[in-house]
Amino acid sequence: TGRDLTTITGKTRVLAILADPIGHVKAPPGINAIAIRRARDAVMVPFQVAPEHLVAFAVSLRTLKSFDGGIVTVPHKGAMAGICDEISSRARMMGAVNVIRREDDGRLVGDMLDGVGFVAGLGSKGISVEGKRVYLVGAGGAASAIAFALVEASIAHLTLANRTSDKAQDLCDRIRSHAPDASVSVGTTDPAGHDIVINGTSLGMKPGDPLPLDAAGLAPGMIVAEVIMEPETTPLLAAAGEKGCRTHPGKPMLEQQLELMASFFKL
Ligand code: ATR
Repeated sequence: TGRDLTTITGKTRVLAILADPIGHVKAPPGINAIAIRRARDAVMVPFQVAPEHLVAFAVSLRTLKSFDGGIVTVPHKGAMAGICDEISSRARMMGAVNVIRREDDGRLVGDMLDGVGFVAGLGSKGISVEGKRVYLVGAGGAASAIAFALVEASIAHLTLANRTSDKAQDLCDRIRSHAPDASVSVGTTDPAGHDIVINGTSLGMKPGDPLPLDAAGLAPGMIVAEVIMEPETTPLLAAAGEKGCRTHPGKPMLEQQLELMASFFKL
């Protein structure tokens, strides 16, 4: 059930999603559905902003009293972190935000919910990461956010693997500098010896993609999780299923992220 647009009035609060390009973004229907479900007079609309105009745009957002907050996505996550008046410690660790909120005094507050959404997605299926040995493949934006969220969630050990191993080492160093007590290392393509195995790369999105890791190291009882939402069953999840692992697709991450975002917007 949608919202009748004639219910939008001068009192309706505006939420934005900032991206460039923007046609592919998936979040507005989800956030608007939450607003309708919670009977909130708010609507999320797309704002396509070019990177060179982001600073000027953020200045006007501070003055826009109808604006409550927004989702910040590619290519603005890093730049917006520097523009916000205040960001969470996890956003500082990552040097990126994916949500902003406008306070009554016009200050912009930012947070990074990409990784916590993933961890909450596991939690929504009864999987706790606390005390677990976790293997994460990938070292890009998505994987970094998950890595920091895992470390925040008190896992026992994090092994990072990536095609370009320098990037895994760099992520490992960044985690250690922000969380000196974290147990983290750089591993190989073999995920053996871990409780939870996570694909944080884009490998598996396109038909014919190779597996992001060596499936011979998967064993019954392991939890194998994906960030990829489409297709729902990636080659990795199919291989993990055959090995007797418990599989966890990417979808719950999005659902949990939308809830976390809605709470951040005080929706
Ligand atoms: P995202 O924001 O989705 O994380 P990204 O920052 O571009 O996107 O990161 C993509 C990740 O997928 C990286 O870890 C990348 O590995 P490299 O750092 O070696 O590039 C990984 N990836 C993408 N294509 C890959 C491929 N064909 N084989 C192995 N890893 C791949």
